[in-house]
Amino acid sequence: MRLADKICIVTGAASGIGRATAERFAREGALVYAADIAAGPRDEDRVFHRKLDVSDLPAWAGLVEEIDGRHGRVDVLFNCAGFVGSYDSLTEIPLDVWHRIVATNQTGVFYGMRSVIPVMRRAGAGAIVNMSSAWGLIGSAGVAAYQASKGAVTVMTKNAAISYAADGIRVNSVHPGLITTPMTDAQDPEISAELVRQTPLGRAGSAAEVANAVLFLASDEASFITGAQLVVDGGLIVH
Ligand SMILES: NC(=O)c1ccc[n+]([C@@H]2O[C@H](COP(=O)([O-])OP(=O)(O)OC[C@H]3O[C@@H](n4cnc5c(N)ncnc54)[C@H](O)[C@@H]3O)[C@@H](O)[C@H]2O)c1
Repeated sequence: MRLADKICIVTGAASGIGRATAERFAREGALVYAADIAAGPRDEDRVFHRKLDVSDLPAWAGLVEEIDGRHGRVDVLFNCAGFVGSYDSLTEIPLDVWHRIVATNQTGVFYGMRSVIPVMRRAGAGAIVNMSSAWGLIGSAGVAAYQASKGAVTVMTKNAAISYAADGIRVNSVHPGLITTPMTDAQDPEISAELVRQTPLGRAGSAAEVANAVLFLASDEASFITGAQLVVDGGLIVH
């Protein structure tokens, strides 16, 4: 039980990596608030689904107030909600699409930390894991808004790690390569095939393999790790 009785929030938890992580956290003894803009499956023993658009700050306040009122703390926040949204380059991407992607992937992570950190500071403890991407560390042609938003998450994580270390709050980011989820199932198969060709381990990863990394960073096993970027990509960006 690596998260015994921890109170956790996981965003983007109705699907893919967020869902796998919420389920894993619960199996490790946590109580999990699984937040998503889409309706989640039915509440289970230790997983409670809540509707949340991460780009809506008042909605965040409502969720954190509910959890703080019930449990008096939030121990773990995993900001996972996000989407690619567009493969366009920065001269091609429609402005409204750019702003939608940034609103969820980047501002959503900012809002999550802004809403939860005061509760963690009061307790003098907390662990935050932010979902970036391999594409938040290296450049690639196209996908301009996604790369910008995930790059921002990489450095926002380090900013928060330094700013709140004295409050006992650890903040780290995860950087998956190609992971098989509904998001990547929906993309052009040629993009996925090319990414597999570039991946030294020669395959896509699974949501469970990312959940393992998030679990480690969220748990007390990572008690001396903050501001780190944990890459989970089968070697994609090692070249
Ligand atoms: N799958 C990959 O290859 C991969 C690689 C690197 C990073 N990521 C990141 O991992 C995260 C999860 O992706 P996934 O592959 O599991 O995709 P997914 O589509 O299976 O799950 C994403 C979830 O986020 C939710 N979501 C989207 N916008 C939201 C919003 N505004 N508020 C709340 N929830 C919202 C969706 O409803 C969905 O349930 C994303 O941030 C993605 O960028 C994925």
